[in-house]
Amino acid sequence: MTETTSSTPSTHHTRLTRKIGPYTTTAIGLGGMGLSIEKKPSREVAIQVIHDALDAGCRHLDTAWAYYMSGGEEQHNEKLIREALDTWHGPKDEVLVATKSGHFRNFTDGVPTWDVNGAPEALIQYGKQSAQALGVEAIDLLYFHRPDPKVPYNESIEGMKVLYDEGVAKTIGISNASVEQIDIARSILGDALVAVQNQLSPIYTDSLDTVEYTKKLGLTFVSWSPLGGFRKPKDESKYDPFKEVAAHHGVSYQQVVLAWELAMGDHMMVLPGAHRSETILDSLRADELVLSQEEIDLLNR
Ligand SMILES: NC(=O)c1ccc[n+]([C@@H]2O[C@H](COP(=O)([O-])OP(=O)(O)OC[C@H]3O[C@@H](n4cnc5c(N)ncnc54)[C@H](OP(=O)(O)O)[C@@H]3O)[C@@H](O)[C@H]2O)c1
Repeated sequence: MTETTSSTPSTHHTRLTRKIGPYTTTAIGLGGMGLSIEKKPSREVAIQVIHDALDAGCRHLDTAWAYYMSGGEEQHNEKLIREALDTWHGPKDEVLVATKSGHFRNFTDGVPTWDVNGAPEALIQYGKQSAQALGVEAIDLLYFHRPDPKVPYNESIEGMKVLYDEGVAKTIGISNASVEQIDIARSILGDALVAVQNQLSPIYTDSLDTVEYTKKLGLTFVSWSPLGGFRKPKDESKYDPFKEVAAHHGVSYQQVVLAWELAMGDHMMVLPGAHRSETILDSLRADELVLSQEEIDLLNR
């Protein structure tokens, strides 16, 4: 994606845009994970979902080295996104593609589980493979996916810095990071660090301290599983106020959830996932929903 030097959005559509490091892109991005892991749709449907999101003005795609579900399919989602962009007729240079290093899938018991490797040399290797799979010289935004308890955090971040210094990544993000880890990453990466991608939804609010902290530091907070993920939540009653506000506006409660997160500050972005075009097209419209202060107070309770 092209960097923007002014606050003028580079895009010509009407979607809400916000700044993330040197880029201006849509505040609502498409999370690619569901298109490549368990219960993934056919490749044809997956490509259509990405094309439909882009046609609707979405200019932010989120992927990871680790979005695949069987041995031999490594980097499935990165390759899918590359194919979708290659076959899309719109302005590809407006699209921010963010990916992540440090996670992989383990198949030791026959079922895919998630595992981490935050050793600097592994992160460097993953990062270079991501650039290759995406077909780019430099990745727009590369996140350190998840802290590895076996590796001191600063050592992993030093590995990410090598990728930045060597030009493999134009900007760096961190994911699943605490306030303390944000400080460590900033001390090593300086202005190369532009975003923190953490879990946030009505059923997961432990990250609210990092929502506040990123705002204070001028970093972008990118919310993952912003709707609560695709598994049925333990406590569905957390969604009741969102359903109440949604009924008042005549929209889906998912739109209210996303609008509530975006209303936490101008530094907020969200990455709803989808297996179908209908759901991402509905989610993208959350940027048209204006919540009153009274409604936000109700949702914050
Ligand atoms: N950094 C990390 O460690 C990390 C971890 C997990 C996820 N992520 C990122 O976050 C993205 C999103 O996470 P996620 O997919 O787990 O969870 P999510 O976005 O919270 O939820 C996805 C589910 O919500 C449904 N949905 C989405 N929009 C909807 C709408 N407007 N109306 C009704 N249902 C709707 C989808 O339905 P359908 O299935 O019917 O389409 C899907 O089942 C991932 O793709 C990935 O990019 C990052």
